[in-house]
Amino acid sequence: MLLHLPQVLTPEEVSRLRRALDRAKWTDGRETVGVQGARVKRNQQLPDASPLKAELGRVVLAGLQRHPLFFAAALPLRILPPRFNRYAEGGTYGFHVDGAVMRLADGQQLRSDVSCTVFLNEPEEYDGGELIVSDTYGEHEVKLPAGDAVVYPSSSLHQVTPVTRGARLASFFWIQSMVRDDSLRRMLLEMDTALTALRGSDADSAAVLQLTGVYHNLLRRWAET
Ligand code: NI
Repeated sequence: MLLHLPQVLTPEEVSRLRRALDRAKWTDGRETVGVQGARVKRNQQLPDASPLKAELGRVVLAGLQRHPLFFAAALPLRILPPRFNRYAEGGTYGFHVDGAVMRLADGQQLRSDVSCTVFLNEPEEYDGGELIVSDTYGEHEVKLPAGDAVVYPSSSLHQVTPVTRGARLASFFWIQSMVRDDSLRRMLLEMDTALTALRGSDADSAAVLQLTGVYHNLLRRWAET
């Protein structure tokens, strides 16, 4: 399931991140990638140990935490601290799959179930830089307004096409979901969305309560915590 999350960050938050990133020291993005990725990755990142990365990452996480769709769509158990990247002057990241298991700073492991990209500049500011996600339904092209995010299954092949004008700035990270299976997460999101709509209507409240119970019992059956 590929899902667009509009306005994860306010325009003020985007400006704050942009000001900081415009002054930031970037390093070669190949530092955080395996052998397969290194062959096709040409971009820049904030160093993993940089305090600025940690500070800006907290702004991104706060935006996601207050977003009405993020929790329902990702059902997060653990979130990798957000990273930041910059593609310019032909920068690109050819088709690849993300690593399945990542190590967190506290030594815990994170299984990447859901990938998230938050766009930090406007589509008009650069040419190219589309995120292409390939799944069983074909290829999806994603290029969103500043402050918007996309989540998609980490199991999919994906790429970022070459940036031929300007620079593309984004935050990206992975989520281990309480529900590993993408198709089960999707059903839970659809049910959650329908229940929210029913609660706002004059639907039979006993039936809505019963369905809410079914939602939670499915989550109880499928969730790993
Ligand atoms: Ni990737």
